[in-house]
Amino acid sequence: MKIDLLRKPTDHMDTVIVMHGEKGDIHSVEYLPEFVISAASVIIKQEDFSFEYASVKSFPIVHNRYRSNIILCGVGNPHELDCDKLRHLIALCVRAALKLNAKELFLFPGFNNPVGEVNFGHILAEAALLTEYKFDKYLSDSKQATIESFHLAINPKTARHINRGILEGRIYAEATNLARDLVNEPANVIYPETLAEAARKIALQYGFSIEIIGLEKLKRIKMEAFLAVAKGSKQEPRLILLNYHGNPDPKAKTIALVGKGLTYDSGGYCIKTPQGMVNMKNDMAGAAAVLGAFAAITTLKLKLNVLGVIAACENMISGEAYKAGDIVRSMSGKTIEVINTDAEGRLTLIDAIHYAINRSHASKVIDIATLTGAAVGALGNQITAVLTNNEALLEKLQSASEFTGEKIWQLPAHEGYKELLKSEIADLKNVGGPFAGAITAGLFIREFVENKPWLHLDIAGTALKDKESGVNSYGATGVGVRLLTQLLREME
Ligand code: BES
Ligand code: ZN
Ligand code: ZN
Repeated sequence: MKIDLLRKPTDHMDTVIVMHGEKGDIHSVEYLPEFVISAASVIIKQEDFSFEYASVKSFPIVHNRYRSNIILCGVGNPHELDCDKLRHLIALCVRAALKLNAKELFLFPGFNNPVGEVNFGHILAEAALLTEYKFDKYLSDSKQATIESFHLAINPKTARHINRGILEGRIYAEATNLARDLVNEPANVIYPETLAEAARKIALQYGFSIEIIGLEKLKRIKMEAFLAVAKGSKQEPRLILLNYHGNPDPKAKTIALVGKGLTYDSGGYCIKTPQGMVNMKNDMAGAAAVLGAFAAITTLKLKLNVLGVIAACENMISGEAYKAGDIVRSMSGKTIEVINTDAEGRLTLIDAIHYAINRSHASKVIDIATLTGAAVGALGNQITAVLTNNEALLEKLQSASEFTGEKIWQLPAHEGYKELLKSEIADLKNVGGPFAGAITAGLFIREFVENKPWLHLDIAGTALKDKESGVNSYGATGVGVRLLTQLLREME
């Protein structure tokens, strides 16, 4: 989809979108052609359309023998508009346009934009490209329409800023769609080896460096917690290391992004139910978010040094698989009693985190993982659970979240629950019992961050949608890509 600023409204516009504040008079909408004003005014009156927030009305008109569609979109009170509400409105308009099979959109924003010009361009482009996304490559007969161009009718004085925003928004959305594609691929297509190959392609395309470590070296460097999870599968594990070097200062610190990369999670011997297994091809959404964020930050040329670590493997059943009751020695030396083979993500993450801190000298750690059903139980599918040992870092994440609209909520890293992870025969258990599962999973991981500033994002609920809503279509949301990218920008 081409996205640009409208030079001159013409007489034949395919689809016209008019956004306006409550009870608005569309006569004052800048650049809106007379024929649209008169046609829309009739409908507004007839239908008593009052432009309340998120109300949408579309109808066809004929002008000079050309057929056009008009979409009216209510902004409500423009002073109450924020980035996320605006993003939602654009998504509604684009969905309405897709339903009409529209090819060319012309947007006339008839309200005072309260988010700033760069942000306006950013959100417009981001929302349009995110909303248009659909994973339909396996449908023999895809019905998804595509929009060819999206023109924005605004004051040319603001063009420079809006255009900058449009470029940024495109970077965020394309990186998110890249992650969505990876997550949506089934596990017979994306397994550790092919995930590593996909990562290599992305690295080459965007220009960050990558190293892929295979089974033999993983054994040599004793990533045994990771290997315990991996060994039940015929597909060999891969450790995928990404490196973005944007700050040449030799004293510059490295921030690690660690993404859970279970390309399939059957649960292992503590096997999941059939229903619980279907979506477990998506258990690498954290890894995909890290890859997407790398694509975005390299394009944005952030002045930071970032390391990405993805321990990619499958959690399967075989004569080789790890078993409940096993004791494994993690790379850090700490031993872990495996209470449940389905709590595998944390075992892979702790070795990845240990690697990041001790081999790559990361000074801050951010992990992102589809880690617990408990996070879904606590916060549902619209809010990501976050734990931290560093409130200042969390504040930055909160501000990033306000901009990107990817909601987060902090869960307490309550010291009292640490004892739930105590084992009689090993340093730790991999499960803290039936309650507060998202918290105990976070506390388990915290044991391996060596007091470095740390953020833990549990995206088990937010990584997928079972039906389209807002900028998300069915399937992977790409959650975390924009959030991590924006967070890193705030850390620049
Ligand atoms: N990958 C799952 C978590 C998950 C559940 C993600 C639902 C997305 C949707 C994880 O590996 C898992 O199985 N966790 C267990 C942990 C339990 C055994 C302590 C869970 O949450 O049930
Ligand atoms: Zn599991
Ligand atoms: Zn899992």
